[in-house]
Amino acid sequence: RIARVKGNDGGASRVGEALELRGWARSVRTQKGMAFIDLNDGSAISGMQAVVNEGSAAWDALDAGGVSTGAALRVKGKLVASPGGKQAAELAVEEIDVIGTADPETYPLQKKRHTLEYLRSIAHLRPRTNTIGAVARVRNQLAYATHTFFQEHGFLYANTPIITASDCEGAGEQFQVTTLVEALKNNRPSSDLPKNKDGSIDYSQDFFGKPSYLTVSGQLNGEIMACAVNDIYTFGPTFRAENSNTSRHLAEFWMVEPELAFADLNDDMDCAEAYLKYCLNHVLEHCDEDLEFFEKNISKDNLRERLRNVASQEFARITYTEAVEHVLNAKKKFEFPIEWGSDLQSEHERYISEEVFKDRPVIVRDYPKDIKAFYMRLNDDNKTVAAMDVLVPRVGELMGGSQREERLDVLERRIEEVGLEKESYWWYLDLRRYGSQPHAGFGLGFERLVQYVTGVENIRDAIPFPRYPGSAEF
Ligand code: 4AD
Ligand code: MG
Repeated sequence: RIARVKGNDGGASRVGEALELRGWARSVRTQKGMAFIDLNDGSAISGMQAVVNEGSAAWDALDAGGVSTGAALRVKGKLVASPGGKQAAELAVEEIDVIGTADPETYPLQKKRHTLEYLRSIAHLRPRTNTIGAVARVRNQLAYATHTFFQEHGFLYANTPIITASDCEGAGEQFQVTTLVEALKNNRPSSDLPKNKDGSIDYSQDFFGKPSYLTVSGQLNGEIMACAVNDIYTFGPTFRAENSNTSRHLAEFWMVEPELAFADLNDDMDCAEAYLKYCLNHVLEHCDEDLEFFEKNISKDNLRERLRNVASQEFARITYTEAVEHVLNAKKKFEFPIEWGSDLQSEHERYISEEVFKDRPVIVRDYPKDIKAFYMRLNDDNKTVAAMDVLVPRVGELMGGSQREERLDVLERRIEEVGLEKESYWWYLDLRRYGSQPHAGFGLGFERLVQYVTGVENIRDAIPFPRYPGSAEF
C-alpha cells in the first residue's frame, strides 16, 4: 500500500525495495521520453510518483492507452531516490497493468480544481478528491477520539432508537414515519386499516399504534440509561425537518450525546470542554498531513496553530445575560436585533467567540426558560434554566446541553406550561418518581465538529452524503 511504503520519511528508508502498488492515477504527464504517473491509493493525500522510461516494457503499456487520470492500476517497480526535490523516493516502473480504465472524454474528475459546489453534484465521485478524502479521514479520527474519550472516562456507549413517538426538543421539526407501513397494505384487508376522516388510509396510525417520527435527539432515552447504569453516551444519526438551506444545518446529522448521572451544570461544562480538547489534540496528532492540506487550501490560515491554542487554554464561561450585554454593546451592526429573552442568532454567537473573546470557545449558560426545552432545570430566579451552549469561532453553536429537571413537581409544571401532554411523558416522569437524582448532558453536532476542525465552510462538505432539501438520491 502506498501510504505504508511512504511512511514518515516519504519512502527514503526503503529505497532499493521491489514493490507492487495498486491505486488510481491522479494524473499522468509525459515529458522528454519519460512519463510521470501520480499514483494514489486513496488512503492519504500524498501518493507515489511512478516514473516510466521510454523504450521500457512498461512504456508499451502506456502506448496501448488506458493509463489516464482516474484509471485503476497495478504498478510494479523499484523504489529509487527521487532526483526531483518534491519527494524523497519514486517508483521506477517495470510493469503496468490497467485494472480499470476511466475514459478521459467522460470522467468528470480531471486533474484541475473543481469547486466544492460542483463536487456536491457528483457525490459518488467526490470522495476521490483530496479535499473530501481528507474530510473522511479527519471525520474517522474524530469518531475514534469520541469513543476513546468516553470509554476512557468510564462512559457506557448506549444505542438509542431512531424511530420514536416523542419530540425531545419540542420544536415540531420531526420527519414523520409513514412509508414503512406501506408494506402492511398488502398483508391486511383494507377494512382493517385505520382511516382518515376523508376515508383514505391513515398510515401514520398504523404500524406503532400512534404517529411516529425520526428522532431529533437520543437524549430522553439516554437519560433513561444514565438513570440506571450511570454515565452513558450515544453517537448516532438524528433528523430535523427544519430550514436546512444554511451552511450549518443538515436534515440528517450525527450527534454525540453524553448523559452524566449525579452531575450538575458545572460537571456538564467541564465534560464538554475536556471532550472537545481531547478531539483537537487527537486530530493534531493523527491527521497532520490532512490538516496541513486544509491549512493551505481551505482555511488559508494557521489552522493547526489555532486548534493547538484552543486545546491548551481555558474556555470562557459567561451567562446568557452577559452575552446579550456583549451584543448590545457591540460597535458593529447585526442583521437581527437582540433583547433579553430572544435567542442568540449565529451572527451573535460568532461575534462573541470571535471578536469579544478573540477566537476562543465560549460557554454561555443560564438561558431564559421560554426559549429552551421543557426538560431543563429551572434556576432559583424562576426565569432562567441551567442550560449551556458551547460557541466556537467560525461555526457558532457546536454543543448544546443542560442540567435536567430532576424535581417531579417542577417538571410536571413545566410540561403543562409549555403545552405538552403529561400523559405522554409518564415514563419520563417515572425517572423523577423513583430514585431521582441530578443529572446533566449535552449534544455535539458531529458535522459541525468536522467543520470546525477542517475549516470547510459548508456543512454539506463535512459528511459524505449530506441530506438537505432536494438531496436524497443515494
Ligand atoms: O442544541 P440541540 O438541539 O440540543 C439537543 O438536541 C439536546 N437534546 C442535546 C442534549 O442535551 N443531549 O442540538 C445539539 C447540537 C447543536 O449544538 C448543533 O451542534 C447540532 O446538534 N445541531 C445540528 N447540526 C447539524 N444540522 C442541524 N440541523 C442541527 N441541529 C442541531
Ligand atoms: Mg441548541
